[in-house]
Formats: sequence, C-alpha cells, structure tokens
Amino acid sequence: MSSHTGKTRVAGVMGWPISHSRSPILHGFWLAEHKIDGAYIPLPVRPDDFAAALKGLAALGFAGANVTVPHKEAAFALVDQRDEAATKIGAVNTIVVLPDGRLEGRNTDAYGFIANLQHNAPQWRADAGPAVVLGAGGAARAVVHALLKAGAPEVRIVNRSLDKAEALARTIGGSAHSWDELPNLLTDAGLLVNTTSLGMNGYPPLEVDLAPLPSHALVSDIVYAPLVTKLLSDAKARGLATVDGIGMLLWQAQPAFEAFFGVRPTVSVALQERVLAG
Ligand code: ATR
Repeated sequence: MSSHTGKTRVAGVMGWPISHSRSPILHGFWLAEHKIDGAYIPLPVRPDDFAAALKGLAALGFAGANVTVPHKEAAFALVDQRDEAATKIGAVNTIVVLPDGRLEGRNTDAYGFIANLQHNAPQWRADAGPAVVLGAGGAARAVVHALLKAGAPEVRIVNRSLDKAEALARTIGGSAHSWDELPNLLTDAGLLVNTTSLGMNGYPPLEVDLAPLPSHALVSDIVYAPLVTKLLSDAKARGLATVDGIGMLLWQAQPAFEAFFGVRPTVSVALQERVLAG
C-alpha cells in the first residue's frame, strides 16, 4: 500500500458506473513504478452531479481527472478551454486543472489509437491506403479524427445507422456507408478497424468476410474484452497482421498521466499484464 503525505498530488477518473474502470490500476502501476507521491482514485459521479463535481476538482486541489462514460460530452461543454483533438472530436476524456484553477479539456483517445498501431504494427503506414472504420459512436469519432490527422488518404465509415455515419463524416471527415457496401470498401483498404460494440463480452460476435481485404491490410479491434475477438482470430487465420484493443487504453493514459504527475511513463508488457489481470 502506498502512503500519502501533505504533498500528495491527486487525480482520478469520473464515471457512472466507475467500479469496472481499469484506469486506477493503470495509473497506480505508473505511480508505484516512478515512486511518485500521488494518488489516482475512482470517482463515482452521477450525471446530475457532474457539473458540481467538475467545479469541485479545482476546489479540492486536484491535478486533474479523466472522464469516461457517460460524461465525455458534458465535460466537453463545461470546461473553460479545449485542446485541438477534443475540439474536433466533441468529447473530453482528460481534464487538467490549470494553475489559475480553470479547466482544460483534452482528448487523448485519438493519440492512444494511433500510438497503439504504431507500437504494435510498425510496418503500417496511415497514408498507405484507405481505412475502413466500423461504427460511428464516440470511439469512432476519435478513431476517424486520428486517422485523418495521421494522413489516411480516405476514411470510410460503415455503420448500422447511416445517419450517424453521415453526421460523423460531416463534422470530422471521411465518407459514410452502409454495411452492404463493406465488401467493395475492403478491396483496396490498408486498415480495417472495429469500433462497434460487436465482439465485446455480452454482445454478438462481429461477422465480417475478410476475403476481399488485400494481404498487406492491418486489422485492428478496439474491443479488449475479450482480447482476441472473432474479428482478430478470423484475420489471423487469413495471415493478416492484427492489433488488439488493450493498447489503446494504455496509450491514451500516457499523456494524461504526464499532465497530472509530470512524468511521461512507458507502456510496458508488465503494465499490460497488470491491467489485464484487473
Ligand atoms: P462507443 O462510445 O464505444 O463508440 P457507442 O457510442 O454506443 O459506443 O457506439 C456503439 C457503436 O456500435 C455504434 O456505431 C453502433 O451502431 P448504431 O450507431 O447503428 O447504433 C454499433 N453497434 C452496437 N450494437 C450493434 C449491432 N448489434 N449491430 C451493428 N452495430 C452495432
């Protein structure tokens, strides 16, 4: 157990519910690794209390906080200023308390997505071909922004509700498509990413015929429970390169930890094992 002092820097994660969040384990690992006098705690905040909780962060002297479901859009609306990624994505996952007590909202999910691909599939290049993104929810917004910023020549958004894909394409970029177009969209793709809930524990598996994909294509899933989804095992069976979703969770936390505690931590195998152990 760590002990705290009068100088302990405090941060946490606000969500509802919050008991399943892995962020306290993740940041706790880094605090111990770097022997930092800090604490990172789960903060259960009901939606109705979110605005009050946000004000409380500065009042309590917090260094900042992460924000998760269902507060990411409310955080975007309520902070005093936003970084470029948060502005584009329309959601905030990291709040930094500035020295004057004002709150800056940041979004590190796009960074986390790209850093994970670059780390685990260094041969992959964003500008090498079109990317196909399955889903148009909150996670898809970060992924589409990340890919466009990284230089993808084209981002094709495929979603069950076409209107959501269209709205995403309008606000962030890319083109909107329905599922029946998927086989054609895959033929020249360099990347296929799942951002839907399909494949997650408790949801049906994601069934995609990967045959049209070129052999150099990378297949990635942001679902990490289970770690190897049916999409990824199908891709591996075809000899395609794959990247699983746990790394995005680890990498999105890196800049947040640095903002809260002043040290840029590394994403190690030991960290991943600790987070997966729960
Ligand atoms: P997140 O914040 O993780 O992105 P979300 O905003 O709830 O979560 O988005 C969930 C995504 O999974 C959406 O793209 C959703 O499609 P719709 O916009 O059509 O609802 C997709 N999704 C969830 N269940 C699905 C299912 N059974 N079939 C197809 N798509 C599904």
